[in-house]
Amino acid sequence: MPTLAPFANEPVLELRRSAVRAQLADALAPLERRLPLPVPVSVGGDTRSGRELLSTDPGDPDRVIAEAARATEADVNGAVVCARRGFQAWSRVSAAERAQALLRAAAWMRERRLELAALEVLECAKPWPEADADVCEAIDFLEYYARGAVALEAGRELLQVTGERNELRYVPRGVVAVIAPWNFPLAIPCGMTAAALATGNAAILKPAEQSPGSAQMLLEALRAGGVPADAISLLPGEGDAGSALVAHPEVHTIAFTGSLPVGLEIIRSAADTAPGQRHLKRVVAELGGKNCVIVDSDADLDEAVPAIVSSAFVYAGQKCSAASRVLVHDAIADALIERVAGAVRVLVVGQASELGTDVPPVIERSAQERVDRFAELAAAEGRVVARREPVPGRGWFCPPTVVADLPAGSDVLEEEVFGPLLAIERVGSVEQACEVVDGLRFGLTGGLFARDPTTIEYVRRRSPVGNLYVNRGTTGAMVGRQPFGGNRLSGTGTKAGGPDYLLHFVEPRAVTENTMRHGLVV
Ligand SMILES: NC(=O)c1ccc[n+]([C@@H]2O[C@H](COP(=O)([O-])OP(=O)(O)OC[C@H]3O[C@@H](n4cnc5c(N)ncnc54)[C@H](O)[C@@H]3O)[C@@H](O)[C@H]2O)c1
Repeated sequence: MPTLAPFANEPVLELRRSAVRAQLADALAPLERRLPLPVPVSVGGDTRSGRELLSTDPGDPDRVIAEAARATEADVNGAVVCARRGFQAWSRVSAAERAQALLRAAAWMRERRLELAALEVLECAKPWPEADADVCEAIDFLEYYARGAVALEAGRELLQVTGERNELRYVPRGVVAVIAPWNFPLAIPCGMTAAALATGNAAILKPAEQSPGSAQMLLEALRAGGVPADAISLLPGEGDAGSALVAHPEVHTIAFTGSLPVGLEIIRSAADTAPGQRHLKRVVAELGGKNCVIVDSDADLDEAVPAIVSSAFVYAGQKCSAASRVLVHDAIADALIERVAGAVRVLVVGQASELGTDVPPVIERSAQERVDRFAELAAAEGRVVARREPVPGRGWFCPPTVVADLPAGSDVLEEEVFGPLLAIERVGSVEQACEVVDGLRFGLTGGLFARDPTTIEYVRRRSPVGNLYVNRGTTGAMVGRQPFGGNRLSGTGTKAGGPDYLLHFVEPRAVTENTMRHGLVV
């Protein structure tokens, strides 16, 4: 096996170049002609077609992007039987060979990166820069976990004493159910699935109902890379398929990324042991957040304002890492509010396929209704300082909104909105801001704008979040650079794209051998 070059992040497209921008339209048109994309249930080498589940363009809801079969309980059972079989073979393949399959899948994606990004533009209304970054992140996960699994296979060094040999090795756990959200339609399912496969598990992917087309592409990449059909199955479907997978006694690990209520339900269900079940299920859960940015009195507003606006409104605030609260020092609160409001009033709200778009539509009608409800509550309880209107009438658009002076305890300040709504609050000090952050049940990302190193150190120590960003935006974690994941009710404390992530998919086994030999064998 060739030695792998050190990991490096996949470079994003240089969209400022007109020649690169021209390629985007070229990628979109042929894909549009192929719509709707068929997404069958794929279990091992078998497929079952269907049209019960439709993903539509959030910017043009009558346009169907993918037609998927809807996985039934029988499909779930069949997929688990298949995965058990697949696990027997795949777990015996060396980590180096498994890595090669993932690297070939990464190469497959690299060759089709524009088509994959175009699909995200259509299926999830991801604007081009975000869609491109998502494809790059998917490639990064494949490359990073491939290398990580090779390193993990060597085991860890233990203390050795004379007459004794100690060994610590990691072995795959078995069948992994991957349950994914839609907001990073390729990268997140790819990351969880790649981690499972790299470490020798068999995976069953249940993608979000909003993005089956992107999941089908992931399946094709992995199969084209050489992952055996029995080791990776795809179950397009809704929450019931996910909960049937979680409850299945032959599933060993559940890798879930999604909302807090669903995550809690999964953790509860996975804790049950069915009669005859001989293992404890492990849940890797990455959940929602309520991400705050603290702005101290000495902050550079030229840096803080654009970073806050893009952290809150890029992809219409539908990143788990999106900023949703700003806690600003009284001394500069008026200036910050005025400048953020001014920047929000000129945001371009439009279709994801338009390169100038800052804020695309949200994913679906129910999301639009949820964001509208929070915006109405914010207007009733606080003071709206900016509302970017009008927005296009066709598609699930929500006006980007900034609200100030909300009362403590308002739902707008406590709940995850997952849309283009930002709340700004005044605080008397950074210490007070830290108290507010510490009072939240979530702990995903956080931001700080400050110049004084002692303030930065203070916030670093006091901040409960999984990812703290200092003097920069709160979104855009990169594999290998910002291992990503939340604390508290934001998740089980895992860090996707970091050095420890693969440990969730393996079991450690220690073997101790007495190497002293006495007498002769007769
Ligand atoms: N922490 C992170 O890294 C991270 C990353 C992305 C998204 N998120 C979070 O995900 C949420 C948005 O994604 P979403 O709307 O797809 O989340 P969601 O929880 O509604 O759905 C996620 C997945 O769970 C499935 N599901 C629904 N009910 C289920 C059940 N009872 N049992 C098993 N599976 C079930 C869905 O079909 C989907 O595939 C936000 O809360 C966001 O913060 C977190």
